[in-house]
Amino acid sequence: MLKTSGSGTGPKRAGQQGRKRTDFRTGTARKYATVVHAKGPAIYRRTDVYNTIARMMGVKRGQLGVKLVDLGSGRGLVGSKVAAALRKRGASVIPSFIDLSPGALSEVARGPLRATHAADLRRTLRWENTYTHAVSRFAVKNVPQKEQMIILRETNRIMKRGGVFVLMDMVSPEGLQEFQNAERIAKNHATGDFFTRNNVPTEKGWRKMMQQAGFNVTEVEMTTSKVNTRDWVKSNQMPAGKVREYVQALERLLERFPDARRAYQIKKVGGDHYEITYPVMIMKAVKP
Ligand SMILES: C[S@@+](CC[C@H](N)C(=O)[O-])C[C@H]1O[C@@H](n2cnc3c(N)ncnc32)[C@H](O)[C@@H]1O
Repeated sequence: MLKTSGSGTGPKRAGQQGRKRTDFRTGTARKYATVVHAKGPAIYRRTDVYNTIARMMGVKRGQLGVKLVDLGSGRGLVGSKVAAALRKRGASVIPSFIDLSPGALSEVARGPLRATHAADLRRTLRWENTYTHAVSRFAVKNVPQKEQMIILRETNRIMKRGGVFVLMDMVSPEGLQEFQNAERIAKNHATGDFFTRNNVPTEKGWRKMMQQAGFNVTEVEMTTSKVNTRDWVKSNQMPAGKVREYVQALERLLERFPDARRAYQIKKVGGDHYEITYPVMIMKAVKP
């Protein structure tokens, strides 16, 4: 059973550590190529999350030939942790990491047999029928629904039959998808340096998209990720001067969607700051 997440800090801008800001091609990649997830949100440090993903992979003790790919890997935290957990069970794992951002990929931890590929998840033709296992965390939500479908179909295509794909991503409570998408856009604006039309489907929506992409959904676990605007500022994810803009947008949204306050346990945490507890889903899908 997964627990809910404690508060944590967001990613740090790499610019502060002298990283170049030139190795990206799209808005989303620009955002993530320029952050160092040195701390990351608290959910990044939760071993129960990695254990759940590893368990869902369904890898047998001592299994050979596990070809695992981390999609939208950033610096590869999920793929590395899951590969390590599977190796602990004696499996032989060849991990690959695909991301738009060469900068983020350059931070993937060294490890046996691992490969990194700077590529767009919407164009992965060269890996057709390659992977036995795939994981993706907080990457698919970053693009509009049409592009999400392209990514999920591509994921299906690059996997072998019987392959297991574990998707960990944000999920909207029923009736609050419009709130969730608008909140993401408000945050993107306040964060300042990029803009994408995120889409955070409901669980039903994610299931439907997975099925349309050719997967059978076999298991879903729910958890949460608790964040607060103070931590976003502390970790330089959001400029202090932009908190007010974000908070005003959030308060306007709460007037339109009063149910969101309870569903996201939204509360003031001193001064202008807010705490938000996002629902997160871990979905296991199998390629038949
Ligand atoms: C929030 S970060 C998550 C990173 C990592 N999955 C983790 O959980 O630590 C989202 C990542 O998705 C990547 N991404 C977004 N759209 C992508 C696309 N179309 N193709 C490849 N990577 C993409 C971004 O570059 C970024 O590294």
